[in-house]
Amino acid sequence: MALTKPKRPLLSLQSSLATTLCFVIVFTIPALLLLHTPTNSICTNLSTQKSWSGDLRFAEFAWNRLRFENDIPPPVSLKIAVFTRKWPTSSVPGGMERHAHTLHTTLAQRGHEVHVFTSPPNDEPKQNVGIQSRASPPLAPLIHWHEGEPGKWRYNKAWEQYEEEENNNDRNRPFDVIHSESVALPFHVARRVSNLAVSWHGIALESVQSSIYQDLTRQPNEPISPAFNDSLQGMIPKVINEIRFFHDYAHHVAISDSCGEMLRDVYQIPSRRVHVIVNGVNEDDYQQDLQLGNAFKSKIGVPKNASLVLGIAGRLVKDKGHPLLYEAFSRLKQKHKDVYLVVVGSGPWLQRYRDLGPQVIALGSMDPSELRAFYNSIDIFVNPTLRPQGLDLTLMEAMMSGKPVMASRFPSIKGTIVVNDEFGFMFAPNTESLLEALELVVAEGSKRLAQRGKACQEYASTMFTARKMALAYERLFLCIKNETFCIYN
Ligand SMILES: *[C@@H]1O[C@H](CO)[C@@H](O)[C@H](O)[C@H]1NC(C)=O
Ligand SMILES: *[C@@H]1O[C@H](CO)[C@@H](O)[C@H](O)[C@H]1NC(C)=O
Ligand SMILES: *[C@@H]1O[C@H](CO)[C@@H](O)[C@H](O)[C@H]1NC(C)=O
Ligand SMILES: *[C@@H]1O[C@H](CO)[C@@H](O)[C@H](O)[C@H]1NC(C)=O
Repeated sequence: MALTKPKRPLLSLQSSLATTLCFVIVFTIPALLLLHTPTNSICTNLSTQKSWSGDLRFAEFAWNRLRFENDIPPPVSLKIAVFTRKWPTSSVPGGMERHAHTLHTTLAQRGHEVHVFTSPPNDEPKQNVGIQSRASPPLAPLIHWHEGEPGKWRYNKAWEQYEEEENNNDRNRPFDVIHSESVALPFHVARRVSNLAVSWHGIALESVQSSIYQDLTRQPNEPISPAFNDSLQGMIPKVINEIRFFHDYAHHVAISDSCGEMLRDVYQIPSRRVHVIVNGVNEDDYQQDLQLGNAFKSKIGVPKNASLVLGIAGRLVKDKGHPLLYEAFSRLKQKHKDVYLVVVGSGPWLQRYRDLGPQVIALGSMDPSELRAFYNSIDIFVNPTLRPQGLDLTLMEAMMSGKPVMASRFPSIKGTIVVNDEFGFMFAPNTESLLEALELVVAEGSKRLAQRGKACQEYASTMFTARKMALAYERLFLCIKNETFCIYN
C-alpha cells in the first residue's frame, strides 16, 4: 500500500498535464494561423503575377493567377487515372464530385485520355458494371465503375481495375499521372506511386478552427452535445495523424492559398510538392445580367422601394452560419425597413427565416439553372460560414455574377477570395461583428456596391473559371510527366 501511494499524485499530475497540453494545442494552433497573414507579397499583387516566370513547383501562390493559353492544344496527350469515391450522375452532386466532374470532363475535351475509377452509381443502375463506351478519340472521361454496392467506395476494387488497364498489353500505354480526390486512394497505396497528385478538399487542421467557431455560437446555458464533444476529443490526434500520412503522397493540390500554407508550414510537406490550384465554377452558368436580375426581383416580390437586397444561398444549417445571420438580420431589419434578405436553400433554418416577416424572402431550394437569376437580383452576397474547410463555391459564383461579398474572416477567404478590400467585407464569425458589417453595407448603398461588384467580376473571371482550373491542373499533370513542362515563361 505504502508503495502505491506516491504514484497517485504523479498519475494525476500527468493526466492534468496532458489535459493542459491538449488545450494549449487546441487553442494555439488556430490562433497562430489566424494571426498569421501571408507575407509573400506576390500573393496580393495582382499586377506582378502576369509577368511571373520560373519553375512552377516553387510557385507558392495559386496557379490560377497565371495565364494559360486556352486556344493552344496541349503539347502531349496525357493518359490520366482519376480515383474518386463518387462520380456524379444526378443533377445535385456534392462539391468534391462536382469538382472532379468539371475538371476531368474539360481535360477529356482537350484530348487527354481520362480514366475515372469510382464506386457504382446510386441512381439509375448502369447497364453494366465496368467501363462505359470507348469511342476514339473519347472526348469524355472513360468511367470504370467497380463492382459492389451503389455509392460504396472500395479502393482495392478500383485499384484492381486500374492495374488491369495499366497492364493491358493491347493498349500498351501506361498512365502518365494519377489523380486522387482527397483520400480516395489511401496513403499506403499512394506511397507506391511517384506520379500521383492528391487534391485536398478540406484538412483536419481546418476542421479544428471550424469546431472552435461552431462551439462559440453555443449559448452560455446550452449544453455541449455529446457527439460534438467527442469529435473535439479526437481532433488533435486526427491532425497529427494527417501530418504523418500526408507525406506519402507525392504531389499535393491545395484548393486555397491558406491551405497551401498549412501544408507547407504545419504539415511540413516540401514546397516543391505543394501546389495551389483553386477550384473553378462554370463560367457559362454565372454571368452578369441585370435584366434577368430585375425580372427575378419582381417575380419573387421584392418591392420597388427596396433600397438594398442581401442574398444568401446554400444549405440552411448551423455550420453555414445561419444562427449569426438570422440574429443579425432580425436586428438590422427593425432599423432599416427597406432592406431585404433573399434566402435560397433548404434546411432547419428555413422556417425561422420565414417567420421573420416580409423583409425576408425565403425561396427554399432552387434549381441550379435559376441560381444565375438569383445572384443577379441581389446587391451583395452574404456568407457567414463557420466552416473554413475548402472554399465555398457560392462566393465565386456571386463574384462571377458581378456581386460583392460579405464573408467570415477566415484565412482561406482572405487569402484567395476577398484579397482586395474592394471586393467586399469580412467579419469575425459572431453576430455583433456581422451586424457591424451589415450596417456598413447599408450605409454604403447599392450604387457603391455595384462598383465593387464590377471589380469582383473582373477578378473572378480571371481566377475562378472552370477553364482556368482545368488548364492549371493540365499544366501540373504535364509537369509531373516531364520536368521541362514545369518551367513557366
Ligand atoms: C505591385 O506591382 C506593381 C507593378 O509591377 C508595382 O508598381 C507595385 O509597387 C506592386 N505593389 C506591391 C505592394 O508590391
Ligand atoms: C467531454 O469529453 C470529455 C472526455 O471524453 C469528458 O471528460 C467530458 O466530461 C465531456 N464533457 C461533456 C460536457 O460531455
Ligand atoms: C414600400 O412599398 C410597400 C408597398 O409596395 C409598402 O407597403 C411599404 O410600406 C413601403 N416601404 C417603405 C419603407 O416605404
Ligand atoms: C521531356 O520533354 C522534352 C520536350 O518536349 C523532350 O525533349 C524530352 O525528351 C522529354 N523527356 C522525357 C524524359 O520524356
